[in-house]
Amino acid sequence: MDYKVADLSLADFGRREIQLAEHEMPGLMAIRREYAASRPLAGAKIMGSLHMTIQTAVLIETLVALGADVRWVSCNIFSTQDHAAAAVVVGPEGTVDDPKGVPVFAWKGETLEEYWWCTERALSWPGGGGPNMILDDGGDATLLVHKGAEYEKAGAVPTAAEDDPEEWKIILDLLRRTVTSEGRWTRVAEGIKGVTEETTTGVHRLYEMFKNGTLLFPAINVNDSVTKSKFDNKYGCRHSVIDGLNRATDVLIGGKVAVVCGYGDVGKGCADALRGQGARVIVTEIDPICALQAAMDGFQVTTLEDVVGIADIFVTTTGNFNIITADHMSRMKHQAIVSNIGHFDNEIDMAGLAKLPGIVKTEVKPQVHTWTFPDGHNIIVLAEGRLMNLGCATGHPSFVMSNSFTNQVIAQIELFTKTEQYPIGVYVLPKHLDEKVARLHLDALGVKLTTLTKAQAEYIGVDVEGPYKPDHYRY
Ligand code: NAI
Repeated sequence: MDYKVADLSLADFGRREIQLAEHEMPGLMAIRREYAASRPLAGAKIMGSLHMTIQTAVLIETLVALGADVRWVSCNIFSTQDHAAAAVVVGPEGTVDDPKGVPVFAWKGETLEEYWWCTERALSWPGGGGPNMILDDGGDATLLVHKGAEYEKAGAVPTAAEDDPEEWKIILDLLRRTVTSEGRWTRVAEGIKGVTEETTTGVHRLYEMFKNGTLLFPAINVNDSVTKSKFDNKYGCRHSVIDGLNRATDVLIGGKVAVVCGYGDVGKGCADALRGQGARVIVTEIDPICALQAAMDGFQVTTLEDVVGIADIFVTTTGNFNIITADHMSRMKHQAIVSNIGHFDNEIDMAGLAKLPGIVKTEVKPQVHTWTFPDGHNIIVLAEGRLMNLGCATGHPSFVMSNSFTNQVIAQIELFTKTEQYPIGVYVLPKHLDEKVARLHLDALGVKLTTLTKAQAEYIGVDVEGPYKPDHYRY
C-alpha cells in the first residue's frame, strides 16, 4: 500500500480514540448498520480531502464499510492528527508491519509543496486513473482536477505573476509537471461522477464554477444541509474556538475584549462561546441582517477600525480575505491574540505582516508565534493565520461531526448510485434526508420527539412522517 504519514507506530493510540469517537458518532454508525448488507458504495473510488482527524477516521471507515475504495489527504497543512492518520493506514484488521487500511497522505505540519504533492498522490489510483468520486472540504481537490483539465484543454500551464500568492505558484508548478498531452487531468475529470463538498468556502467555489460554465461534474453542497451548517459551523465552533485559544495560549478569556469578525454560522458559535467564558464580545459585519442579529443577541457591533487598539482577542470567521491587515496588527495591544477560524489563511494578511520593516517572528511552540514590532510590543498569531481550532486544537468534537459526516455519506451514496438524476449542477440533499440525519442523533441525547396527529399534520399541511418544513424555511 502506498501512503505517507508521520509515524505508523501511533496507530494503537489512534485506534483507541477512534473507538471512543464511534460511540459519539451515532449517525455514522447507524448508516453502517443500515447499509452493511447492500454496500451501496461498492465500486466507488473516493478521493477525500478533509482534515485527517479522529472523526474523519470514523467517516473513512464508514465509506469503506459501505464498499468504497478510498484514498485520503488533509485539506489543511496543520489539521492532521498523526495518530488518526496512522490508525487509518493500519486499519482495524492490520498491524504496523502489515497495514491493511486506507492510503493516507497527511501529517501535521506539511509544507505547502508537500500539501499539494499529497493531494496529487491521493488523486492517483494504483495502476493508473483517478477516483470516480471526490469528497472535498474547501475545494482544493476539485480545484486541482479542474485546473489540470483547463490547462490541458488550453495546451499550456500559465506562468505565475511575480505578485501571485506563493501557494498559487506551487499549484502551477505541480500542474506543469503533471499535465500531459494525452490529457491526464481531463481523463480524471471525465471519470468523476461527482463531488460532495463540506464547507461554506468550497461551496462558494462550486457555485462560481457552475455560474461560469466551468464545473465539470455534479456537486452536492453538504454544507447547506441544515444538520451541517447550523450545527457544525455553529455548535462545533462554539466548542472548538475556545479549545484552540486554550491550548495555544491558556489566557483567561473572562474579562477580556474579544472581537469576532463575521456573524454567520461560525461567527455566531464563536461569539456565543467567548461570551460564555465571560469575554466582552464585539462583532463586525458587512451584512445588515447579520449585524442586526448580533445586536439583538446583545453584542456591540462596530468596525474593526474602532476597536483594533482595545481588544485582547481577535477571531476572523468571514470566509473573506484581508479582514485583519498588517496595519491593523501593528496598532493592536501588546500580546493581543490574532486568530482565524475561517477556511483559508488569507483572512489575516500574514504575507503583509511578514513584510513589515523590522518585524521579528518568534516561535513560542508549533502553531503559536509572537510577532514583535520595532517599538518592542508584540502580538500572538495562532496557526500562522490558518484555522486555529484545527491548527492549535483538535477541531470539532465527534458528536457534531457525526451530523456533518452522515450528510457526507448520504450525499456520496446519492451521487454515486443515482448519477443520472444529477446533471452538472450544485445540489443540496432533500429535506427528508436532512431530517433523517437529525433523527439519528436524538436518542443519544435522550430527546423524546412529539408525534403529530394526523389531523395536526393535515392542519399544517405536512405528512406525519415529514418533511416538516418547506424548503425556504430558515431554522
Ligand atoms: P457565513 O457566510 O454564514 O458567515 C460569514 C459572515 O461573514 C457573513 O455573515 C458575512 O456577511 C460576513 N463577512 C463577510 N465579509 C466580511 C467583512 N469584511 N467583515 C465582517 N464580516 C464579513 O459562513 P460560515 O458558514 O459562518 O463560514 C465562515 C468560514 O468558516 C468559511 O470559510 C467556512 O468554510 C469556515 N468554516 C470553518 C470551520 C472550522 O471548523 N474552522 C467550520 C465551518 C466553516
